[in-house]
Amino acid sequence: MSYSQCWLVYNSIDNYKDKDLLTDLHIYYEKDNALSNIMNNIIKELTQGLNSILNIKISANIIDGKETSSSIKSGIVLGLTGQNVINDIADTEQLTEEGYLLKEANQCIYIIGKTEKGLLYGAFDLLRRIATGEGIRGLKVIENPKNTLRMLNHWDNMDGSIERGYSGESFFMKKEEILVNQRTIDYARIVASIGINCVVINNVNVRGSAATGLITDRYLNKLKEMAEIFEGYGIKLYLSANFAAPMEIGGYKTADPLDQGVADWWKECVQNIYKIIPGFGGFLIKADSEGRPGPFTYNRTHADGANVLARALKPFGGLLVWRCFVYNCQQDWRDYKTDRARAAYDNFMGLDGKFDDNVILQIKNGPMDFQVREPVTPLFGGLKNTNMILEVQAAQEYTGQQKHVCYLIPMWKEVLEFNTYAKETNATIADIVSGKTYNQTHTGMAAVSNTGDDFNWTGHDLAGANLYGFGRLSWNTELSSEQIAAEWIKQIFPHKDKVYKAIMDILMGSWHTYEKYTSPLGIGWMVNPNHHYGPNVDGYEYDRWGTYHRANRNGMGVDRTKAGTGYASQYNEPNASMYEQKETCPEELLLFFHYIPYDYKLKSGVTLIQHIYDTHFEGVQEVEKMVEEWNGLEGLIPEDIFQRVQKRLTIQLESAKEWRDRINTYFYRKSGVDDAKKRKIYY
Ligand code: GCU
Repeated sequence: MSYSQCWLVYNSIDNYKDKDLLTDLHIYYEKDNALSNIMNNIIKELTQGLNSILNIKISANIIDGKETSSSIKSGIVLGLTGQNVINDIADTEQLTEEGYLLKEANQCIYIIGKTEKGLLYGAFDLLRRIATGEGIRGLKVIENPKNTLRMLNHWDNMDGSIERGYSGESFFMKKEEILVNQRTIDYARIVASIGINCVVINNVNVRGSAATGLITDRYLNKLKEMAEIFEGYGIKLYLSANFAAPMEIGGYKTADPLDQGVADWWKECVQNIYKIIPGFGGFLIKADSEGRPGPFTYNRTHADGANVLARALKPFGGLLVWRCFVYNCQQDWRDYKTDRARAAYDNFMGLDGKFDDNVILQIKNGPMDFQVREPVTPLFGGLKNTNMILEVQAAQEYTGQQKHVCYLIPMWKEVLEFNTYAKETNATIADIVSGKTYNQTHTGMAAVSNTGDDFNWTGHDLAGANLYGFGRLSWNTELSSEQIAAEWIKQIFPHKDKVYKAIMDILMGSWHTYEKYTSPLGIGWMVNPNHHYGPNVDGYEYDRWGTYHRANRNGMGVDRTKAGTGYASQYNEPNASMYEQKETCPEELLLFFHYIPYDYKLKSGVTLIQHIYDTHFEGVQEVEKMVEEWNGLEGLIPEDIFQRVQKRLTIQLESAKEWRDRINTYFYRKSGVDDAKKRKIYY
């Protein structure tokens, strides 16, 4: 096979203690009906998975849904609520649509769901427990997903390239054709196993006639095949659409959302999609952003733009996901008032409550663009009557491009735990995007995917933990970063303490390590323009993108207080005041909010300039330690993974040194201040 199975490798485990509970597979089903795709997939997954892990052969035994469970002596029992199977087993009232109950009773393991999707997630959960070596005797778990929408955004182009892709080419498309093959099936299995239920297969930058034409007959029949595979794993297919499609492929003179002809064109287009793909999810739209067309051209608002599409989707239950990544990318570096960080809030706050109920605003975690450290976008704490979905980037565009290890789950956890103070209680980002704060259903989390057609799917084997972790976290935002890493490690690697400890150490420290040797204290950027890999302190400094550090001989940072751009005031209190004052501003974000002199003393007692030197030396030392730890795994883990990661760690170490020296030299030259510890800084 030309690709791995990620965490679904189902490595064999000797002496699994609860093997005796897994003798058979009994499935309650309405006898007259043929098994659905989902049910067939559950059976396949359980039989193949258990065979591979425990070397046992079980076959599915279909039982009439009306029978009672008493005749079953042992094995796995699957059934929906409402069938007799569960009457005497458990109280399942707490289950929501996609939830499941896993319970051991009388030598049986019950998997009960309200829907077949619930059963699918339950089956994957059971397999995960077994694969990680966890016992299942006495098991009783009720799991409901925290978020209704758990979405992957692929930035795949019709020619097969991937925007910000670091793992090879697209496995969804090539040479303007849609690919449907065994890898499509394995992709669906892999992402369904972590709870993903919505997938956008094409780039948000919908450029060219092929990408724009994805929503037409040219591609719909092929997409139908893909959608059916996805549906068998509980996943809805979504497409990124071009706001100017009525013009570019419809022959209209305008894409004005308030033009009746344009509205009718979208209606017909959507009707046609649903005729061919009845389970279609909806559209993702990037409008008026980085050169993409949008409602601003016609002096219309983003609500006008989103609603016209949402109304076309509404009769079919479709959703319209509209991105808030709208900012002025023609800025003048001499202009100290315009602030890109303010843009999402400034553009969307005034539209709160004006979007239809099947519109969801997709908001990036930070106000800039997926830097290694950013504050949380204040728009989350502002909007009260609008559905929101949190967008994070698993693709490591600014975090080492899958050449560097950077386990992002700790960063996303911090975002999710951030209290917006939008209400007195239940106002963290996790609460808002799960719909808890304002009692909404169309909410959730989306990640820009880090996958491609590389053997290991994610370029760097350890980047697989980000894909895995995103799914698990979007299902349950309360899981800890360690728990997620532990599950991932145990499903892939041999169960040996040394292996577990080394990989856990490497993953858990990796984000902070990356932060240490790159741009300091929340200022971000300092990367090479366009491709965004490697250090270039002034790469964007005099450019039009609004991403400045403003370093001079005395200090650096952007004043985003009232005296500066006023961005800090976009937060609710007490956050606004906390960021406004440098004394209370969290230090990791100090340069994001304040201009700070090099001799300013941080809480640790060291000056800003000394902190920059120290962290850059430390960052490289930490990578050296990672390399050492990894090298200690030779012979203990699969050789191919060992080799691939070792190669990338070598690249990371070289790159970290380059970062260290460029940053230290740059600030040494600006400030003229020596390193108190007299380490090597080039002058
Ligand atoms: C970043 C990224 C682009 C992408 C954009 C977006 O700017 O560099 O490649 O298109 O984000 O999120 O739309």
